Amino acid sequence: MSLTSPVTDANTPLFSPSLVSPEVLSELPEGYTCRPLQRSDYQKGFLDVLRVLTTVGDVTEAQWNERYEWISHRNDEYFLLCIIDPSQKIVGTGALIVERKFIHNLGMVGHIEDIAVAKDQQGKKLGLRIIQALDYVAEKVGCYKSILDCSEANEGFYVKCGFKRAGLEMAHYY
Ligand code: ACO
Repeated sequence: MSLTSPVTDANTPLFSPSLVSPEVLSELPEGYTCRPLQRSDYQKGFLDVLRVLTTVGDVTEAQWNERYEWISHRNDEYFLLCIIDPSQKIVGTGALIVERKFIHNLGMVGHIEDIAVAKDQQGKKLGLRIIQALDYVAEKVGCYKSILDCSEANEGFYVKCGFKRAGLEMAHYY
């Protein structure tokens, strides 16, 4: 069941704002907020925030719109959110992708991906709030766990967010 219908309007939230944790909202620094991604976020620095994480490439607005449209048709599976600063700039982001399984009684697993906080905004607990916000979505939509891959250098951050080391990542690049 979809929580919201597919959205393509520039300022419509990708998913229901009722899935944004009230506790996270109350704990953000003064003037900051957390909300679902919207199509107009191309103009608000979303891709620049992701550049602190990895290579993004030269994504045009048309390419962004096409990908956003694809994601918005899967908004019971893709939950991307943003942290906005008092000047309305995007300063943090994170994603939860919800996988539907047959095992564990048709269990659902959350995959936490692409966590990034703008360089000059790091150390203000925004990363922690992003993870707490994604955890809240995962629990609300019925995931029994959330998992993520990270570098050794970020292990301490995720431990502070309540995660523990479990297993080993393997990759096959194409
Ligand atoms: N190692 C150990 N502890 C850390 C680290 C780290 N690398 N980063 C933060 N912490 C600690 C903080 O000191 C703080 O501890 P405290 O509660 O004792 O004060 C706690 O974790 C919370 O820190 P935040 O202030 O919320 O961290 P921040 O907002 O700076 O965000 C993040 C952390 C997301 C890792 C940020 O530094 C960043 O964007 N880095 C570049 C991109 C990146 O590596 N993203 C993660 C990729 S993995 C993935 O996406 C699944």
